[in-house]
Amino acid sequence: MVNKTIIVSNRLPVKIVESNGEYLLSPSEGGLATGLGSVYKKGDNIWMGWPGIDVPEERQQEVTEKLAELNLIPVFLSPEEINLYYEGFSNEVLWPVFHYMVTYANFEQTYWDFYQIVNQKFKHTVIEHLNEGDTVWVHDYQLLLLPGLIREEQSHVTIGFFQHIPFPSYEIFRLIPWREDLVEGMFGADLLGFHTFDDVRHFLSAASRLTNAKISDNVVTFKERQIVVESFPMGIDEAKFESLVTEQAVVEQIASLKETMQDRKIVLTIDRLDYSKGILQRLQAYELLLQKHPEYIDDLSLYMIVVPSRDTVPQYKELRDQIDQLVGNINATYRTLNWLPVHYFYRSFPIEFLSALYATADVCLVTPMRDGMNLVSKEYVATRIDNTGVLILSEMAGASKELNDALIVNPNNIGDVMRAIVQALNMPVEEQITRMSVMRGIVKKFDIHLWVKNFMDKLEEVKQLQESLLTK
Ligand code: G6P
Repeated sequence: MVNKTIIVSNRLPVKIVESNGEYLLSPSEGGLATGLGSVYKKGDNIWMGWPGIDVPEERQQEVTEKLAELNLIPVFLSPEEINLYYEGFSNEVLWPVFHYMVTYANFEQTYWDFYQIVNQKFKHTVIEHLNEGDTVWVHDYQLLLLPGLIREEQSHVTIGFFQHIPFPSYEIFRLIPWREDLVEGMFGADLLGFHTFDDVRHFLSAASRLTNAKISDNVVTFKERQIVVESFPMGIDEAKFESLVTEQAVVEQIASLKETMQDRKIVLTIDRLDYSKGILQRLQAYELLLQKHPEYIDDLSLYMIVVPSRDTVPQYKELRDQIDQLVGNINATYRTLNWLPVHYFYRSFPIEFLSALYATADVCLVTPMRDGMNLVSKEYVATRIDNTGVLILSEMAGASKELNDALIVNPNNIGDVMRAIVQALNMPVEEQITRMSVMRGIVKKFDIHLWVKNFMDKLEEVKQLQESLLTK
């Protein structure tokens, strides 16, 4: 039997949507799905996760068969599990704390109970499909206990874990009532990967203060096993974005966008609906620009795409209302008969349209309050095949460690963001080209394929190291 890799994440790269009683497949949102979506299909590999909606028991077989054609294995969640494990523990405890927004956290005991139950449920599905020699690659904060649970049953299996969101400083992480269990659950992996060196540092600091593990450089020794902790900054499918922009359909979209905009400049922002993305602060910076620099009125527009996400979680609902209100105010105050300051879309778009937007935007504004990596910034860069355009990037995004030729801003400093927009709008083309070509080189070289290879090679190396220590 050929060895395979089992990718496990909370959400599958496609989700099931219901239309007139029929189940259809649609791409999932977010960095994890879009980043890894193009690489899992190799060989006998499979991907396990939740298909995104509550599927009644009598229709689970039908969904399982539909997904099997794509090498996907569903883990079905009941409404109670979705509510307490996904919306509750994952998105009302771990997400806010790991993004330094602790006042949004809700430390409910039942959330924790269901987090454990659902991580167990994922473990059963993994064990069902696991054969000797397979590698398990677990992804993200929804499944921090899973490596440990698999290890308890299969002590020799190879397990990699990658976290797509930041790992916070110990002073923040320590607030979580169940902090030791989380770290020890992660210790079940052989290799723990994070986007940045700072995430690695924060994890090692939490591990050394909360557990009796021995730590030497980036190697943790826990219960006589060695676990390596390292940073792997995630890349994108650069070649796909580079070629998309020359496709006929995209070229036509670009032409029609340019015609709609006439000679106005476009500032573009694309995010999932999330308070970590700094959407409100960005709108405030744009409003300040219109206030302080009336010369830009009728001269540029903000294209703001917000992709619906987690809108059953109260903080997300509230954020959506606040965005509606702020966009409404800006448009009502500054619009003219023929010009709209903010073109706001609350929906998802096909990748071809996003590609056309990236190609048309003079400036891409990516200003999260905190972000593990932020792949939108890399998609913008990859699309700019003529090397023009300006990226404004938050220093709180993992991507800022690699894309230093962007205009780097503190997203909390509204004045600073406004000044960066002015600088971007006035940047000479030669400077744009110099900066963009350096960033394109980085995005091209460190793409998603190299990322997967680096992670997998390291995982194999760690396994060999462990085996050589055992036979000594
Ligand atoms: C981020 C997380 C992913 C998550 C995605 C979408 O990228 O790192 O784990 O899947 O957001 O969020 P959702 O809650 O809709 O899965």
